[in-house]
Amino acid sequence: MIMAHQLDLLVGVILMASPVLEMSPCSSDGRIALFRGCNLTQIPWVLNTTERLLLSFNAISLVVTTSFPLLERLLLLELGTQYANLTIGHEAFRNLPNLRILDLGLSRIEVLSPDAFQGLPHLLELRLFSCGLSGAVLRDGYFRNLKSLARLDLSSNRIHSLHLHSSFQELNSLINIDFSFNQILTLCEDELRPLQGKTLSFFGLKSTSLFSRVSVVWETCRNPFRGMRLETLDLSENGWTVAITGNFSNSIRGSQISSLILKYHIMGAGFGFQNIKDPDQSTFASLARSSVLELDLSHGFIFSLNSRLFETLKDLKILNLASNKINKIGDNAFYGLDSLQILNLSYNLLGELYNSNFNGLPRVAYLDLQGNHIGIIQDQTFRLLNMLQTLDLRDNALKTIGFIPSIQMVLLGGNKLAHLPHIRFTANFIELSGNRLESLSDLYFLLQAPQLQFLILNQNRLSSCKAVHATSENPSLEQLFLAENMLQLAWETGLCWDVFKGLSRLQILYLNNNYLNFLPPGIFKDLVALRVLSLSANKLIALSPGSLPANLEILDISRNQLFSPDPGLFSSLHVLDITHNEFVCDCELSTFILWLNQTNVTLLGSPADVYCMYPNSLLGGSLYDISTQDCDEEEAMASLKFSLFILCTATLTLSLIVTLIVIKFRGVCFRGYKTVRRSLFKDKAWNLEPGASRYDAYFCFSSKDFEWAQNALLKHLDVHYSSRNRLRLCFEERDFIPGENHISNIHAAVWGSRKTVCLVSRHFLKDGWCLEAFRYARNRCLSDLKSILIVVVVGSLSQYQLMRHETIRGFLQKQQYLRWPEDLQDVGWFLDKLSGCILKEEKGKKKRSSSIRLQSITTVS
Ligand SMILES: *[C@@H]1O[C@H](CO)[C@@H](O)[C@H](O)[C@H]1NC(C)=O
Ligand SMILES: *[C@@H]1O[C@H](CO)[C@@H](O)[C@H](O)[C@H]1NC(C)=O
Ligand SMILES: *[C@@H]1O[C@H](CO)[C@@H](O)[C@H](O)[C@H]1NC(C)=O
Ligand SMILES: *[C@@H]1O[C@H](CO)[C@@H](O)[C@H](O)[C@H]1NC(C)=O
Ligand SMILES: *[C@@H]1O[C@H](CO)[C@@H](O)[C@H](O)[C@H]1NC(C)=O
Ligand SMILES: *[C@@H]1O[C@H](CO)[C@@H](O)[C@H](O)[C@H]1NC(C)=O
Ligand SMILES: *[C@@H]1O[C@H](CO)[C@@H](O)[C@H](O)[C@H]1NC(C)=O
Repeated sequence: MIMAHQLDLLVGVILMASPVLEMSPCSSDGRIALFRGCNLTQIPWVLNTTERLLLSFNAISLVVTTSFPLLERLLLLELGTQYANLTIGHEAFRNLPNLRILDLGLSRIEVLSPDAFQGLPHLLELRLFSCGLSGAVLRDGYFRNLKSLARLDLSSNRIHSLHLHSSFQELNSLINIDFSFNQILTLCEDELRPLQGKTLSFFGLKSTSLFSRVSVVWETCRNPFRGMRLETLDLSENGWTVAITGNFSNSIRGSQISSLILKYHIMGAGFGFQNIKDPDQSTFASLARSSVLELDLSHGFIFSLNSRLFETLKDLKILNLASNKINKIGDNAFYGLDSLQILNLSYNLLGELYNSNFNGLPRVAYLDLQGNHIGIIQDQTFRLLNMLQTLDLRDNALKTIGFIPSIQMVLLGGNKLAHLPHIRFTANFIELSGNRLESLSDLYFLLQAPQLQFLILNQNRLSSCKAVHATSENPSLEQLFLAENMLQLAWETGLCWDVFKGLSRLQILYLNNNYLNFLPPGIFKDLVALRVLSLSANKLIALSPGSLPANLEILDISRNQLFSPDPGLFSSLHVLDITHNEFVCDCELSTFILWLNQTNVTLLGSPADVYCMYPNSLLGGSLYDISTQDCDEEEAMASLKFSLFILCTATLTLSLIVTLIVIKFRGVCFRGYKTVRRSLFKDKAWNLEPGASRYDAYFCFSSKDFEWAQNALLKHLDVHYSSRNRLRLCFEERDFIPGENHISNIHAAVWGSRKTVCLVSRHFLKDGWCLEAFRYARNRCLSDLKSILIVVVVGSLSQYQLMRHETIRGFLQKQQYLRWPEDLQDVGWFLDKLSGCILKEEKGKKKRSSSIRLQSITTVS
């Protein structure tokens, strides 16, 4: 029987897994004739090599012996869904002697010859669903001689009685019969007599109104399945009450039924009613000798699981009670289920679990309690379930839990847990997504569980890192899911940067949607086995060199704010998703653009999703469409043009203003001139006298960087921001004299300060005034023969980008510069160093070649 079933499946798979989709419709390639929906009114002529003839969705009305030429190789004939009433004549398929599957489903068969299916000795499967057939098809021996027939589908017809012709007795291959969706009001022993002695893998009587519409005299009806062995008996959707179920189990006493499907029943009181009975000790009692292994009672109205409800079902392995209204579990409700392995109580109305609820289930391995309303669980509830491996408590209402059972798999997702009991346990798989965990101490605690391989903590609120936690090796963890938390809040305090320490076997890590705007330095350092990392949907602007795990293969960094990533970071990858970032499409990006075009890394997403965010002229344009040719020259030209433009405009504006001022405020002008002269002379005087400068340093930066400079530097150095600071600083926004010529302001600032600090950023390089100030400071260096210029490079500017500017190149070739630290922890030290440089007194040097020596903090990459 199993053999036949497998063969059946095998042929089905071979015949169905056909490449028909690639064929043009209404044609044949010799083996497959594809004529679905071709307006045919009769069987078309096909080659005698055809193996599959697909004729559904036509209007064929007549099939007789001569309709087909001899097709000895035909295995599958599809004749379903004809838009005409079908007449099938005497031995209609005789010319198809090797047919395996005949599909007439959804065709209205108006006339069917009793000999229609004769001459099909190899037919395995006959599909006659929704054909408008009456019970005569069973009664009158239409299926006689179908020696190989294994599967007969007669569902959705007009069969009212299952009175079988005696020829069914000889159908020794038949294992699967489906009578579902017919109106079969009763079924008694005599009707199925020809099937006695047979073993069937499936008998379908779903939605047939069986026994529920008419009253049955069970004494005379007796057992319809007498002498049969059924693997699966589907009696679902028949509207069975407790009384009918009880009487039916009584009547089939002794018949072997491995799997009894009674879902969509109407047993049980439901919620808020008392008049309808819940099943009790007697309802299933008579199934004792039927060796039922699986009982499906899902989708009903059972409110209370009464005492000893299943006590006789000693062999039962799977009990499905899902989607009822179970609120009460009576004393010893599960008593006697000695073999039960899977208990499904999902989607009921359980509110609390007591220590005694699961008594008498020595072998349960899987307990499914998801989708109830469980708010509280007594600590010992699962204690006696010695074989328990999986406990599914997802989607309940747990706010606290006093224990974590030491079993393989614990599913606690979709509850309201705000913290976990820090009690030792062992588990292989823990799912806690969609809870309210806030403190990273819970994560540290979970990571300490020995043997843990999978930890899922998506959609929590992990954000607080208060104490310093002990990290420990977890050599077993393979997958860690931390998506949709708020790790940024935890990490920006500078704590919990060691959370992944010791996870030497971790292969998959999800950190998407965590509001991350930086990656703590070295956070992935110990993840030597990590292959898959998702950083998608964060707010990362840049990735610093070495920040990714060394052996990473798959990286998702889509939906961040990367503007100019360094392709060198991606050298170990096989797959990369870098779509929907905020690329700044200037020449700086050209290395990345070139890399995109020639890399072997598989790039996910469409090219259109890798687009420019800036400048506006390229907004939304794909990086793949941008030419990087002549990037250097263009850039140089552009900046030159820009400088010229600025210079012209400035000159013009200035001369206009000067003219106006001179005409309008001659007197004031004069006074102003006096002031400037005085201050210039004073400056000179200061300069001649070291240590007496008006300012300790002139900070020169682009006005676009003002906010950053103020927060990062000025606030920590300038005496006016805080009395703790020591330095007197000068910067344009505050200290330049308004209305004064900008150049004189710069001049005054450079000469009026002991040092000039240039914050060289992307903006600085584009700002003509900044470059001018740089030049002044350099000139002063040359004239004073001492180093008064300190250069701090900010942001991800490469050596190459810096060298493009002639003024800066001259400086960099001879002298060292400072780099703003990438690592937040270094900032304090950096500021100290910078203050030191500013305060350090340089002696006038005799030779230019031995000028400033500043330590570079980070080596230039
Ligand atoms: C079938 O007939 C309909 C209406 O007569 C027509 O629109 C359709 O194109 C025809 N299909 C084929 C495959 O000939
Ligand atoms: C198909 O028909 C041709 C002649 O029309 C014949 O030679 C050939 O043997 C046939 N093949 C099969 C498989 O029947
Ligand atoms: C098939 O026959 C029934 C009744 O005999 C009729 O109502 C129906 O219209 C026919 N269908 C077609 C497609 O001819
Ligand atoms: C169940 O069987 C008993 C005894 O034959 C009968 O009295 C009762 O009406 C039956 N109930 C149903 C619903 O068939
Ligand atoms: C329990 O039943 C629910 C609902 O039918 C289903 O989703 C779940 O997979 C079942 N659980 C098990 C362990 O079979
Ligand atoms: C990408 O490479 C192809 C050839 O490998 C070249 O023809 C094309 O111009 C390149 N595109 C860009 C944007 O560099
Ligand atoms: C891509 O693969 C080819 C062949 O495997 C190799 O020769 C080439 O160097 C690779 N290119 C890059 C950019 O890794």
